[in-house]
Amino acid sequence: MKPLSRPARRATLFVHVAVSVGWLGLTLGLLVLGLAGALTRSPTTATAAYRAMKIFGDWLIIPISLLSLFSGVILSLGTAWGIARYRWVYTKFWLTLIATGASIFALRTTIDEAASAVATGPDAGAATPSLVAAPSVALTLYVFMTAISVLKPWGPTARGRRARAAARTTRTARTTLKARTPRTSLTPRTAASAPARTTGARPGT
Ligand code: HEM
Repeated sequence: MKPLSRPARRATLFVHVAVSVGWLGLTLGLLVLGLAGALTRSPTTATAAYRAMKIFGDWLIIPISLLSLFSGVILSLGTAWGIARYRWVYTKFWLTLIATGASIFALRTTIDEAASAVATGPDAGAATPSLVAAPSVALTLYVFMTAISVLKPWGPTARGRRARAAARTTRTARTTLKARTPRTSLTPRTAASAPARTTGARPGT
């Protein structure tokens, strides 16, 4: 993929952070509703809680999870971070992929079942523990991912180290070649011989 221009990178990062942290907020809301549905003795409250969860599930889970995943992948492929060059990015990629699959295929189904159950009778508000457990696990995961996004721990992967070594070798070769090339009137300094722009050791600049 072509590297992102500075404005494109900033815009994508903005969307990525807004959507990903929004996903965290959505999950916190689902957890509160799941707890309300499980703990209340009032069928009316349980019905309202599971119906509200269904509305969030139907409207928001798919777009938010997919947008977080895709904007993250674009940021990775369009910058020197890469997908598999840094451990924190690679970890986020797999965790988000799993969380997206689980949210779309398992969590939404469980919410739908709870909403249909409360619609059929007052008894049906019976606790649905998985509607507390799933958002709890997901919330922990998103908080963890927010933390590693900001701290960027663990350094490069083996593949990332090889890519950095290869980039260093190319840079050294270019510098040596430039130093050896005599500058005479017959070898004008053109754009082609100008120093290549390189990225820093850390891709965050
Ligand atoms: C729930 C899922 C995710 C959350 C909560 C999340 C959160 C964040 C946050 C808060 C940042 C800003 C960090 C900073 O600028 O200091 C960030 C940046 C970033 N994220 Fe994610 N992210 C998620 C998923 C992903 C995925 C799936 C990928 C792709 C593999 C990804 C790749 C990146 C990259 C490469 C950056 C750095 C961009 C840059 O500095 O140019 N993220 N993420």
